[in-house]
Amino acid sequence: MAVAGKGGVGKTSIAATLVRVLVKAYPDKRILAIDADPAVGLSTALGIEVKTTLDDIRREVVAAAEGGDNKSAIELLGEARYRIFDALVETDGFSFIAIGRPEASGCYCKINAYLKEVIGILSENFDYVVIDGEAGIEQINRRVMEKVSHLLLITDSSKKGTQVIAAIRRVADELVMYERIGVIANRLPSTEVTALLDTGDLPLLAAIPSDASLAEFDLKGENVFYLPDEAAIVQGTRQALREIGIL
Ligand SMILES: Nc1ncnc2c1ncn2[C@@H]1O[C@H](COP(=O)(O)OP(=O)(O)OP(=O)(O)O)[C@@H](O)[C@H]1O
Ligand SMILES: [Mg+2]
Repeated sequence: MAVAGKGGVGKTSIAATLVRVLVKAYPDKRILAIDADPAVGLSTALGIEVKTTLDDIRREVVAAAEGGDNKSAIELLGEARYRIFDALVETDGFSFIAIGRPEASGCYCKINAYLKEVIGILSENFDYVVIDGEAGIEQINRRVMEKVSHLLLITDSSKKGTQVIAAIRRVADELVMYERIGVIANRLPSTEVTALLDTGDLPLLAAIPSDASLAEFDLKGENVFYLPDEAAIVQGTRQALREIGIL
């Protein structure tokens, strides 16, 4: 499943909370969290220390190719594949991987495409995969998320927020293979605004109020596993998972 939406609406907080809720609900399942935002943040929200990203590996492989190393492309790709596991952080209850900046420089399209494929292969080894995407519609456009089972569109109560999810939906309908889609409204200033939210024909899975304790959490750099179960974001995320048929 993947989260998408306008900048700053709470995608990363919700993606991390999704992982927390899944880990607690399904302790025996294999769960993978993917930070697909080059600006990173999911690791902090999950309390993970990232040493290597997939892009670091990609860059090393490209550098080896340019350094006149006589290995064939096949050998290099094989090596990259093997090294993917260096970027995988395994912790109690879930695994984590950060993409870094895969499309940032030059056109090593083959290797980029390969990495995307590796993520696909990696994902097959897990029961649940949660992807925290970059803000806006670029990643959907570039088909970073080509195939996701559940697309969770996150918005705040702003017009801009709902316009961005409508735009993402239009692009996703063309470019992404998804099974279920729904909206999570977050950081709502009051319960009254929920009724005024225009999500078009997209189902509203949960409405999460603005919660001052989250800001405090952020300030301390604490991860979502320390949030109380009653926290609005935990309750709302759990409800969204129920609504969309995962819990
Ligand atoms: N329900 C909420 N109530 C109050 N603050 C919230 C809530 N949800 C998220 N926040 C806060 O909003 C800020 C932005 O959240 P977050 O980083 O999760 O958004 P994002 O959509 O991932 O942003 P970006 O587009 O920059 O990646 C954070 O400081 C977070 O703690
Ligand atoms: Mg984010």
